[in-house]
Amino acid sequence: MCGVIGYTGDGRRDAAAILLRGLHRLEYRGYDSAGIAVHADGGIVTRKLAGRVPDLQELLALQPLHGVSGIAHTRWATHGAPTSRNAHPHMDCDERIAVVHNGIIENADTLRRALEGCGHTFRTDTDTETLAHLIEDSPGETVEARVIAALEHVVGTYGLAVMSADEPGKIVAARQGSPLLLGIGDGEYFVASDASAIIEYTRSVVHLDDGDIAVLTPQGYHIFDRESHVQLRPVDDVTWDLESIELGGYSHFMQKEIFEQADTVRSTLRGRLVFEEGVARLNGLNLTPEDCDGIDRITIVACGTSWHSGLVGRQIIESLAQIPVAVEYASEYRYRRPLAARNTLTIAISQSGETADTLQAMRAARAAGSRVVGIVNVVGSTIARESDGGIYLHAGPEIGVASTKAFTSQIVTLALLGVYLGHQRGLLPLAARQEFLCRLAQLPTLVARVLALEPDVRRLAEEFVHARNALYLGRGVNFPVALEGALKLKEISYIHAEGYPAAEMKHGPIALIDEEMPVVFLAPHDEVYTKVVSNMQEVRARGGRIIAITTEGNGDLGTLVEHQLRVPATAPLLSPVLTVIPLQLLAYHIAVLRGCDVDRPRNLAKSVTVE
Ligand code: G6P
Repeated sequence: MCGVIGYTGDGRRDAAAILLRGLHRLEYRGYDSAGIAVHADGGIVTRKLAGRVPDLQELLALQPLHGVSGIAHTRWATHGAPTSRNAHPHMDCDERIAVVHNGIIENADTLRRALEGCGHTFRTDTDTETLAHLIEDSPGETVEARVIAALEHVVGTYGLAVMSADEPGKIVAARQGSPLLLGIGDGEYFVASDASAIIEYTRSVVHLDDGDIAVLTPQGYHIFDRESHVQLRPVDDVTWDLESIELGGYSHFMQKEIFEQADTVRSTLRGRLVFEEGVARLNGLNLTPEDCDGIDRITIVACGTSWHSGLVGRQIIESLAQIPVAVEYASEYRYRRPLAARNTLTIAISQSGETADTLQAMRAARAAGSRVVGIVNVVGSTIARESDGGIYLHAGPEIGVASTKAFTSQIVTLALLGVYLGHQRGLLPLAARQEFLCRLAQLPTLVARVLALEPDVRRLAEEFVHARNALYLGRGVNFPVALEGALKLKEISYIHAEGYPAAEMKHGPIALIDEEMPVVFLAPHDEVYTKVVSNMQEVRARGGRIIAITTEGNGDLGTLVEHQLRVPATAPLLSPVLTVIPLQLLAYHIAVLRGCDVDRPRNLAKSVTVE
């Protein structure tokens, strides 16, 4: 949500060019407007507009900017419409201070009234502009001193980069609740919302913590807190390659990430299956056997697709480890006075590791006495750092706004956790654990087989491209897959779609079914299969058009369904890893055929760092 980047260097490279490239990489975080500011001609020069980063690039071709330091931003609007005027960077009255910001200044209206009362003139409707005027008014010898003084008055969240015309070459960054890291180069330093913006130039990053203020000059960087105490933070290495954030021949990141899933599932499993002992190796969990024994219940907190994987995880963990699991929307959980106690394990699931609601839910659980474990993809992210232990997905960067490969890796991770807890609690016999691990190990090959269904799915997409509504139905472990399939379709194609437990359909959604309505059934051969077939009969009787995702070799469905896509058989608890893939492909192809911007869907953002 909003991408921030800042750069300062020793003059060997042009800041504007680096910032622009960084914005291209950050665009998935928000894309309604973009802007850039550099130190030039003894002042600060900006270019900004409503639109995408390529539009900004065109503007810069007509009105070039050059400098050795600067800041830039790509926006997902919160306060103020996505207009050129409201695009960042924002400046003070004299245009000597420029600010880019990710987050929300909650007391912006009060601050604005006070600043206007003191004679400040605002040019935009944004909360961010208050920061520029506050810094303008704040005392201090240096820009960092003025930023610290200004932040005293601020309530809210921010990942900020600030520059002052009076101190060319210096960028000041501040973090409270919105992600920010520094990039350490050779004679050049970066600040960015995430590593994708700077990986081309350096792999050495320093993750800032809440309360940190960083000062970057071509000579080096310093981090300190609001009382000006120096803070020492480790320098981490980014382990993934530039290749993983490039399209590499695919048309869209979503398509690339769908097709990466055989590899990403393999990567999630790598080094974690210990067949002889029938256990999963999860060293980062930091749970002793006594801790595992003492868990009375588990609460999973998550949002969006991660919440759906949590629902699958509930069935896996309850079945393998016999621990009751509740799955909560993070945004709801945190305001309900969590009753977490010592014997509750809270699991925060988040691809980005930065989702504000999940982070706050996790903090609320911790405050209520729970131990917290993170299931996260982005290494070094806030949730990963604040958890007591965790499991990384190792799925590589996910750029497509519609999450795909993270979902399958999350389920695989939850399956590993289920076996781990089942073993630690002495519940699963060795042979059963070994059998489950074998099923897990087969998944990458099976995923590749499901991906080969793409031509069939594309034909289906052509047939249903003009649908106005769609219903997705599943039972048991495939009910969350129905939710996920419907979410994928609505996110990127804007077709109204609902996911429902198949049996629950007759209590409402059945009223929607007519000859126009595509109904997607998740019907792998498992213990609820015959029940699902009964639900299909109910839809068929009302003229609904059925698409079934079922198991290879299944010849049962005959004329009951209009279309069948068959996925390989696996352990029933793992079937969501396979059944979801045709639904990802279906949403993708329908969206492409409808001319939708698959990687930048309307109104959405990849990493939702506001509550
Ligand atoms: C946004 C994204 C979704 C994602 C959700 C949770 O809404 O568009 O794809 O599932 O956030 O994100 P997280 O990073 O916490 O998994």
